[in-house]
Amino acid sequence: MDKKFYITTPIYYVNASPHIGHAYTTIVADVLARYHRLCGYRTFFCTGTDEHGDKIAEAAQKANMTPKAYADRISAQFRALWPELAITNDYFIRTTDDNHVETVRQILRKVYEAGDIYFGEYEGYYCVGCERFYMEKELQDGQCPDHQSKPVYRKESNYFFRMSKYQDWLVGYIKDHPDFIRPERYRNEALAFLREPLEDLCISRPKSRLTWGITLPFDDQYVTYVWLDALINYITALDYPEGENFRTFWPVAQHLIAKDILKPHGIYWPTILKAAGIEPYRHLNVHGYWNVDQSKMSKTLGNVVKPLTLKDKYGLEAFRYFLLRDMVFGLDSSFSEEAFVQRINADLANDLGNLVSRTLTMASKFCEGRVPLADASNDEDRGLRDLIVRVVAEVEKGFEDLALHKALIAIWELINAMNRYIVESQPWVLAKDPDRKGRLNGVIYHLLEALRVVAVLTSPFMPGAARKIMAQLGIEEATTQDFESLRRWGGLAAGNELKPSGALFPRVEYRKEEKVETAQADAAPFKAEIDYADFEKVDLRVATVLEAEAVPKSNKLIKMKIDVGEERTIVAGIAKDYRPEELVGKKIVVVVNLKPTKLMGVESRGMLLATDTADSLTVLTFDREPKAGAKIR
Ligand code: MSP
Repeated sequence: MDKKFYITTPIYYVNASPHIGHAYTTIVADVLARYHRLCGYRTFFCTGTDEHGDKIAEAAQKANMTPKAYADRISAQFRALWPELAITNDYFIRTTDDNHVETVRQILRKVYEAGDIYFGEYEGYYCVGCERFYMEKELQDGQCPDHQSKPVYRKESNYFFRMSKYQDWLVGYIKDHPDFIRPERYRNEALAFLREPLEDLCISRPKSRLTWGITLPFDDQYVTYVWLDALINYITALDYPEGENFRTFWPVAQHLIAKDILKPHGIYWPTILKAAGIEPYRHLNVHGYWNVDQSKMSKTLGNVVKPLTLKDKYGLEAFRYFLLRDMVFGLDSSFSEEAFVQRINADLANDLGNLVSRTLTMASKFCEGRVPLADASNDEDRGLRDLIVRVVAEVEKGFEDLALHKALIAIWELINAMNRYIVESQPWVLAKDPDRKGRLNGVIYHLLEALRVVAVLTSPFMPGAARKIMAQLGIEEATTQDFESLRRWGGLAAGNELKPSGALFPRVEYRKEEKVETAQADAAPFKAEIDYADFEKVDLRVATVLEAEAVPKSNKLIKMKIDVGEERTIVAGIAKDYRPEELVGKKIVVVVNLKPTKLMGVESRGMLLATDTADSLTVLTFDREPKAGAKIR
């Protein structure tokens, strides 16, 4: 059978920068995609950004930007983040893409022509955060239960989708397909919701109130409701209706979401698909929420965890491992940096890191730097080999059930067994006795081959670390190591040259930020007084960074094209602390009347302002959005 796999993440709203929650879903999708590729599936993996609607229009207005410019900026942040987290998506969709706009209009036309869309009046409480109407009984003390804010009362004429018509069909479908929505708790939640009569879905917004959306194909005074627009992304990405990808991948579509958006995915989407004459997706996989130190992550609480901060501090492999190991798929989890550090040290630095370095050191020393030929095996060896068979099966099962933490627990069972095997077989004692060379080779071969198994099994989770282990085992082409290769003992070729290298996972320490203390310790004495007239000579302006790139051959300098009322190029020594792409779109402060200077051959016409924070630089920005070129006094 031709094996195929299609996985999607939600498309993220562009009203806020990416955080650990977005990173988690996308990393889980990536692990699933990598695993299926490893098993020989043709795989398509899609993520992207959701850019229309009130929420984005409001955020853009606050930032004093057009919705499109604003969406461009945040969407670019998501797009730039994913490669940093080793995400291997095949497609990145934006709901402002032309092909998507066309697909939405096509679906609407189809459902309209089938008679499932009608015009009517609606009034109710609308939460902009959720982009949906609430029934009075759903509110808690008059507030949206998710956003703890008071929804606005709205009364307007709109178009409606006859969702109610599909209620019985949907209930039947969910009952007939027990793994349509999984884990079971969310299937039950969807069914519980369907026990109440299903209302029709309001699918438009009048342009008199909102213009930032896709115009309805049958009434140009209205734009499409943002959720309808967003859900359709999953088929746009496959070139619905005629695309080869649509034919190939839609029948095996799997969506991955968190519990917050169960209703649109579990109720709206299947009924819309049904009305449009499209088969339902295969699985909706729902995970829980990451909280931080037991509280909900929120801008107001200031506890939003940024994925890049953790990655930069502790390394990508550790970050991915922790997220996948610590969350039971389907349940909530609480993030704590302290627990994160403990886990890296215990599981990665101690268990896995030490195993790799001990094995490689012994193998290089006792076997002349090459994978030895193994000529015999005893009960201990057979025990290890049997364990591998069981662990491989458990990893497979973990993936089947989406219990990724269980897959990791099984892999660590093998790692721990290998550490015990070393202690029990004592290769350093065998090495002293030339008569036991055969046994020594057997032990070392078993360890090296088992390490290959560990590398292949961990590769979807920690692709970088797995590649490094394989390189140490002398496997040049990591891609030759597929999942099938784990079913036969002896995939590691004798004679391979071993290449031991430094610690795979150095131990890390948990340090709370020491910003305040550092700033005080570094405080320089104040300079001599100056007259106001002297200060006036310095022309400080607001600048928008239009483009940014590293200056070739320099590890400190970034060249930026800025708008200060006119376009200019400046160069700044901030490459250690900022990536060029994260500067683009930022409003910064620039001295514009400093004499031009050349840095590494590039002329800089201005100097940006920055300050020291801990051991890095922080560029001055604004907490509101002034206009480029505005004077700073
Ligand atoms: N734009 C909609 C989705 C449309 S899909 C057709 C949206 N966007 S969102 O930016 O709010 O992203 C929500 C998703 O981000 C969640 O379903 C989940 O995948 C991820 N997460 C956001 N916060 C999260 C946590 N605190 N914990 C885990 N995942 C979280 O809803």
